[in-house]
Order: sequence, then C-alpha cells, then structure tokens
Amino acid sequence: MDITAGDGRRLHTPRGVYPGSFDPPTHGHLDVIERAANTFAELIVAVVVNPQKREPMFTLEEREAMIQECVSHLPNVRVEHFRGLLADYVKKKHADVIVKGLRVVSDFESEMSTALMNRSLSNVDTMFLMSDQKYSFVSSSIVKEVFFLGGDVAALVPEPVMRLMAAKRATLRSST
Ligand code: PNS
Repeated sequence: MDITAGDGRRLHTPRGVYPGSFDPPTHGHLDVIERAANTFAELIVAVVVNPQKREPMFTLEEREAMIQECVSHLPNVRVEHFRGLLADYVKKKHADVIVKGLRVVSDFESEMSTALMNRSLSNVDTMFLMSDQKYSFVSSSIVKEVFFLGGDVAALVPEPVMRLMAAKRATLRSST
C-alpha cells in the first residue's frame, strides 16, 4: 500500500504478518496485536493450521473466531490462516515484516534463528514487540494447563476466549 506524504512523495506503508498458534489467544497476544496495529498500516494475524509442537486444543476455526472477536475494534487488522512455511506465506501476501512478540530474554534465543531463517527464505525481516510486562509470564500452554486443572485464568485471556474455554471444558467433562 502507498500513501502520499505532505510533500507529495509516495511512501510505502508496511504490511505486517503476526503468525502464531494462538491455542488459545491470550492478553499477551492481544497486547502485541494492538501495538502492531498502531505501528503498521495493515496487520494480518496468521494462524498456523497445524502447530508443530502438539495437537491444538482448539480447532483452526475456533482459534480464528476467537481472534476475530478480540480484534473487532481494530479496522486495519484481519485474521487469516496458513499452512506450510511462514516464509512462503509472507511472500505470497507481499508482507513487509513478520511481527513476533517477546516476553523474556530467553524467547529471543530461538526467535533469532527463526528470524534469520525466515529472512534467508523470504527476504522479509522480523520485528519484535514486547508485550506489557504484566503478561511476561503468560503463554497459551500455561493458561491451558492452569484452566483445565481448575485455576482462574480470567485475567490472562480476553473475554471471548474465556467463554469458549469454559464451553470446551464443559464439553470435555460431559464426555468423560
Ligand atoms: O505461537 P507459536 O506456536 O510460537 O507460533 C509458531 C509459528 C507458527 C510462528 C511457527 O511455528 C511457524 O512459523 N510455523 C510455520 C512453519 C515454518 O515456517 N517453520 C520454519 C520456521 S524457521
């Protein structure tokens, strides 16, 4: 996308892609999305179809729907999904940057090699945004573990996510 600057120059405004498993999305994710939406002209939140780490707790449709509801106040954000290599997806979308969130320093170790690999495959750089420090301990996996063992995670996930998690827990209980 191009915009015209005050002096008449055509400026390219960046399109960011924020990829993730979002299983489920947390307040930390939403915080990064809001920061990225303030930074880039356009932001695509890209849900990976098959997370490499494990079977997702939430289906692709559920993860997309939860994010969609959480970003409805952000007009320059859209939610999509991708399968395969992120590098291929960002090339196909003509993205200018990959956005990743950093919580703690240890996140950076794996993110750096991933960013360099993605850049060598796609020539698209990764930019890191820090979520608010109050979310530095929040991850999807810790939220799921605490919630399904009966703990209160209402402060850690957006309300639409909490609703679906409660429904999912009720379904799991009634089927066991
Ligand atoms: O939320 P997550 O699980 O930390 O997100 C990880 C994700 C989806 C960004 C990463 O697994 C990914 O990019 N997967 C796509 C496959 C790929 O491109 N792998 C090579 C990375 S160098």
